[in-house]
Amino acid sequence: MKFLYFDEIDSTNEYLKREYQNLDDMTLVYTGHQTAGKGRLGRTWVDDSSSLLFSILLKKDFDYRSIELLPLLCGVALHQSLNKMNLESQIKWPNDVLIQGKKCAGILLESIYREKLEALVIGIGINVNNQSFSKDLEEKAISLKMALGHEVDKEQFLNIYVQQFESLMDDFLKGDMTFMKVLKENSYLNGKMVYLNYYGENRHCRVIGIDDDGSLMVKDEKENMLNLKSGEVTLEQNY
Ligand code: BTN
Repeated sequence: MKFLYFDEIDSTNEYLKREYQNLDDMTLVYTGHQTAGKGRLGRTWVDDSSSLLFSILLKKDFDYRSIELLPLLCGVALHQSLNKMNLESQIKWPNDVLIQGKKCAGILLESIYREKLEALVIGIGINVNNQSFSKDLEEKAISLKMALGHEVDKEQFLNIYVQQFESLMDDFLKGDMTFMKVLKENSYLNGKMVYLNYYGENRHCRVIGIDDDGSLMVKDEKENMLNLKSGEVTLEQNY
């Protein structure tokens, strides 16, 4: 992995999307602060400099099936990194990692297409040393510091993450899907009741698990099995 650092930048994802032609596969850019951090579904990602903010550029020839698995692989890498800090965590399909049922990190995958797939950018924001969160987030968000009771060195944690990520990515490229087993065993949504939008219809479903292709398996009110490829589910209970 090659590392680039900026004290401040608009968004590490946007930086890699602008510069990908001049950068190598497996370049990681991290920053102390983003002025225009982006979350999923057009949301903004606000930081107060206590978060670890980075993006990884991938210029490999992935097919679309593999692309769908990448955010999950990144979530598993984070789950394993947190294990190294003695923190239990769960992966909330498709893009979040939770500690004590509260979100500690979000993952945003973006692809760059110019007739064909040119590159992928995976952005990760981790609440590392946040002391507290705003009223609207305090029930839903947690930081590593809040969970551990002490500060965590952001760069040290980034190095732990990169080790886990590289090792899972090496296996994945060889066709070794061991990360899926870790994912299935640590999936937060298993057994939970959720609301979701399935081809334009609102459904109330029970989550059965995660399938080998990374989709979420749910059963609707009529006991029909549905496979959700992507999107959001809303929990019956908040987070
Ligand atoms: C989400 O939970 O909605 C995903 C959040 C992803 C935030 C990270 S922070 C680093 C990278 N740069 C961005 O602008 N977004 C991602």
